[in-house]
Amino acid sequence: MQKNIVLIGFMGSGKTAVGRALGRQLKREFVDLDELIVKREGRAITEIFAKSGEACFRQKEIELVKEFSAQGNLIISCGGGVVLAKENLENLKRGGTLVFLKAAPKVILERTRNASQRPLLNVAEPEEKIKELLAAREPLYLQADFIVDTSHKSVPEVAQEIIKHIQDE
Ligand code: S3P
Repeated sequence: MQKNIVLIGFMGSGKTAVGRALGRQLKREFVDLDELIVKREGRAITEIFAKSGEACFRQKEIELVKEFSAQGNLIISCGGGVVLAKENLENLKRGGTLVFLKAAPKVILERTRNASQRPLLNVAEPEEKIKELLAAREPLYLQADFIVDTSHKSVPEVAQEIIKHIQDE
């Protein structure tokens, strides 16, 4: 059984698009944890945040991480805040290779302009919020096994870089 490939990084860093591309190219199952939460809860992330609170969302995230870290052969795309819970990082690392997809704040702002589905960036000053959250999370993202800067790369380019790294491992 192969280790999971786990994509972590900020909103708009390309985790979902790159994860899908990796799944296709490596013929491995792709799991998007945000999508799964929405599916299982039967409501959007914005609604979970608004009606049940961020803590409720984080709890669901912890449960899914536990469930999928215990499996192998997967490509897993995580929500940007997955690293906030120490147990998530531990569980994801145990079963997989962690890849930090990094992007510059300006690029993130551009890619997340339509923030209606991203409650944390649905604020008056999204760029300030991005910088603030990034500063707090960067040390956590840096616990990944390797980093790919996606700021000026296409999805296939990023996927190729990850595949090469995994093969060389
Ligand atoms: C979050 C990122 C989102 C989603 C939720 C919280 C975060 O996922 O999990 O809105 O805390 O950074 P994406 O990174 O896939 O947008």
